[in-house]
Amino acid sequence: MPVSPVLTRRWAAPDAWRRDRYEQLDGYRALCKALQASRADVVRLVENATLRGRGGGGFPTGLKWSLMPQQQVRPHYLVVNADEGEPGTCRDAPLMMTDPHALIEGIIIACYAVRAQTAFIYVRGELVHARRRLDNAVAEAYAAGYLGDDILGSGMRVDIVVHSGAGAYICGEESALLDSLEGYRGQPRLRPPFPAERGVYGCPTVVNNVGTIASVPAIVLGGAQWWRSMGPAESPGACIYSLSGRIRRPGQYEAPMGTTLRELIDMAGGMRPGHELKFWTPGGSSTPMFTAEHLDLPLDFDSVRNAGSILGTGALMIFDDSDCVVRAVQRWSQFYAHESCGKCTPCREGTYWYVQIYDRLERGEATADDIDTLLDISENMLGRSFCGLGDGATSPVTSSIKYFRDEYVAHYQNGGCPNRAVSALISA
Ligand SMILES: Cc1cc2nc3c(=O)[nH]c(=O)nc-3n(C[C@H](O)[C@H](O)[C@H](O)COP(=O)(O)O)c2cc1C
Ligand code: SF4
Repeated sequence: MPVSPVLTRRWAAPDAWRRDRYEQLDGYRALCKALQASRADVVRLVENATLRGRGGGGFPTGLKWSLMPQQQVRPHYLVVNADEGEPGTCRDAPLMMTDPHALIEGIIIACYAVRAQTAFIYVRGELVHARRRLDNAVAEAYAAGYLGDDILGSGMRVDIVVHSGAGAYICGEESALLDSLEGYRGQPRLRPPFPAERGVYGCPTVVNNVGTIASVPAIVLGGAQWWRSMGPAESPGACIYSLSGRIRRPGQYEAPMGTTLRELIDMAGGMRPGHELKFWTPGGSSTPMFTAEHLDLPLDFDSVRNAGSILGTGALMIFDDSDCVVRAVQRWSQFYAHESCGKCTPCREGTYWYVQIYDRLERGEATADDIDTLLDISENMLGRSFCGLGDGATSPVTSSIKYFRDEYVAHYQNGGCPNRAVSALISA
């Protein structure tokens, strides 16, 4: 599989995060090019490239930008979602650490396209190291005239405000993020109105993921056709997949959209010796899990959806035959119960009861009815929760019962986890 990095191509360069190094490696050339074109042309370019949001939903970015009002009555804002809280996801943080100017350049181009003068980067609170890197890079960009007044003589002004959240998963959900940014407790908003109409401070706002915005300079330089030449027609481009778990070399692997898990595991040096793949998530813990039968599935938005899951954030968490699926889902359910904001009953109550039942399963106190109760709770959460957190919490539960019901049965028949001794040994 030919792999020529696009998004990570500077990551290994010495001091890649510095502005002078970024400029040596084509940095800020895309901005100059974009400013020569009209705003509408930049939006059209991103639309033609079929860039789809990397924050999880895969929404077409050009379409999102085109929904912003064409007349500027109130200020427009760009908000970059750098909350990255999905378990297993770890690609925005390294991108901000190694290549912060790619994000800044993408922000300036996006601000130009959607007529925004201020952009916020909402960074997960725990990512203090990324915050420092961003602060330095933003200061460098101001000093070089890429930010502030009259950028490169274009007459345009753009300011970037880096804002640290307090580390809540729900604040990655775009409307809760906007509440948090405004200083309120982060809870999802009722939609419509959508952010393009009424976002931060009640003004038209575009919310995009770090990876989405950092892809824009490459598209401006390479063109829509070149971007579309990577991967399938409806879901093309370069993608950073996060591989973690039972493989030899966990990490971030860039490959064209539509690469399979088999190919990615090869890139990561293979599975841990002596063990076989058992289950894996295509896009973090809130996406239905897959098994070894899905090794050759192209990992792009549509193929994964057609196979019954979601590409999400491309967070591939890989488990092998030494892992207990019930234990893994118990851990994720504890996470969702902890992170549920409590605004709606299905999610607040459902995630609580998940935890009680998984604890019973692991302690060996569950009954045959508990599996049906888990499915019943899931049915009451999926599509009935106020935001995607509640829906996502059901994914590992229902998909694990679909593929590994026997393992659940073994838990209540054997008085607890049949795999406990092996798991404990491996963890030790
Ligand atoms: C519970 C929850 C958490 C989310 N967390 C993130 C996140 O950490 N980063 C992110 O970019 N999008 C996250 N999203 C998706 C955002 O709501 C939004 O769709 C995304 O930021 C849009 O950017 P994109 O169009 O570039 O993908 C989350 C969604 C939900 C429901
Ligand atoms: S689904 Fe969960 S996180 Fe979302 S609003 Fe309801 S309680 Fe809050």
